[in-house]
Amino acid sequence: MNSKDGTKSMNVLKVIGGKRLQGSVDITGSKNAALAILSAVLLADGVTTLYNVPDVSDIHIKLRLLSRFGATYEWREGALIIDTRNLHTAEVEEELVRPIRTSFYILGSLLARLGKTQLPAPGGCNIGARPVDLHIKGLRILGAEIDLTGGIYYAEAPNLQGGEIYLDFPSAGATQHLMATAALTPGMTVIQNAAMEPEIVSLAAFLGAMGARIEGAGSSTITIQGMDRLTGCEFRVPADRLQAGTYLLAAAITEGDVTVRGVMPEHQTALLNKLREAGVDCSEGHDWVRVQMVGRPVGVQKIKTMPYPGFPTDIQQPMAALLAIADGNSTIEETIYEGRTGHVNELNRMGAKIMVQGGRVSHIDGVERLTGAHVVASDLRAGAALVLAGLAAEGETIIRNVHFIDRGYQNFEQTLTALGGDVERIPVTEFEQALS
Ligand code: UD1
Repeated sequence: MNSKDGTKSMNVLKVIGGKRLQGSVDITGSKNAALAILSAVLLADGVTTLYNVPDVSDIHIKLRLLSRFGATYEWREGALIIDTRNLHTAEVEEELVRPIRTSFYILGSLLARLGKTQLPAPGGCNIGARPVDLHIKGLRILGAEIDLTGGIYYAEAPNLQGGEIYLDFPSAGATQHLMATAALTPGMTVIQNAAMEPEIVSLAAFLGAMGARIEGAGSSTITIQGMDRLTGCEFRVPADRLQAGTYLLAAAITEGDVTVRGVMPEHQTALLNKLREAGVDCSEGHDWVRVQMVGRPVGVQKIKTMPYPGFPTDIQQPMAALLAIADGNSTIEETIYEGRTGHVNELNRMGAKIMVQGGRVSHIDGVERLTGAHVVASDLRAGAALVLAGLAAEGETIIRNVHFIDRGYQNFEQTLTALGGDVERIPVTEFEQALS
């Protein structure tokens, strides 16, 4: 495994624009699916083998967290083997939970296994406030007693019992957290207004392989029959639909021709519809999608992020990079997060004309070309958007805060380079020396 350590992430990416991307990419395992599975794996009284786990920094941090609670793991020939037979409570430092929100989603699994646990509260992040109230309310319905004191959630559940949960909002994380906890909670649990993301479906399949009985995952009502014990299993993490979307947009923005392989085209419907509206030629087979582009895209109105199957919030930032060079105006409305516009100022530094209204709506006045600049990634997908913009821009773009990109894209620069892009990781010290 090419583990993403802190030093590597202290680098910058240098992108020389103007190269057309061409070829095909095998999409690696989904970060979000794998993170949800790595919360639920603690439910297993056994040894689990996971295939296709992406080599990204969020996964490595999560594994460190699991090991603090007694899980042991090793990588063997690309597979991740986790032994969760001997768990115990632990006091973990904030740094392991704060930066990665899904760290908090192990609370329910630990409660179901141990009856008692404690975890620091997750922090907000650069895309806005991210409360966990739906998680807490749902766990309380299952019988958990939870108190927040001094930034730590203390949870006890001497008698977990299935219940009826209605989510005020179809939160992906709360659905995953509560579905997993209910799988090892006696009695029947029904989750209404559940999120319908493909990562919910893959988590239910994983829990099923552990011996859980779950119906309705992928719809808005999920029914879980709790079991007394779940066992280890073998499971393959599905391909990352958000990474696939990013490479499709990279093809479109460079007037390229790229096929992403190993993906389910039906997970890309919202994106492909909008790409076609923008004049991008898209074709698909049973496990691949191809994008071919000639000339500039045209502006697209009414892109609005919504819970799945709506337009994914994770794709709106890379989409903004494409529409920045469109012929005509576009609008993108972010409805999921209040602060997911950190890419806008940086794209504007590159010559884009984007105005954000009310923190949520990006009005994009398409320009003929972007020019390379020094820019800073504010979060994972903002980073991806800036790399895409750099691929299309004239000249050299330098992107700082690469550690955000490393959270979710495995071998990003190598993959883009293999497709014909010019993207290089430079040690930040070397870069700063060159500047002085
Ligand atoms: C997951 C994905 C993320 C994606 C998001 C929406 C992972 C690791 N991350 O995040 O990439 O952008 O789904 O598809 O899988 N909310 C509350 N209270 C809660 C929980 C959520 O108000 O208890 C709000 C959040 O602040 C946010 C919205 O609900 O505004 C969506 O959050 P949620 O669907 O839970 O996203 P995550 O699971 O955190």
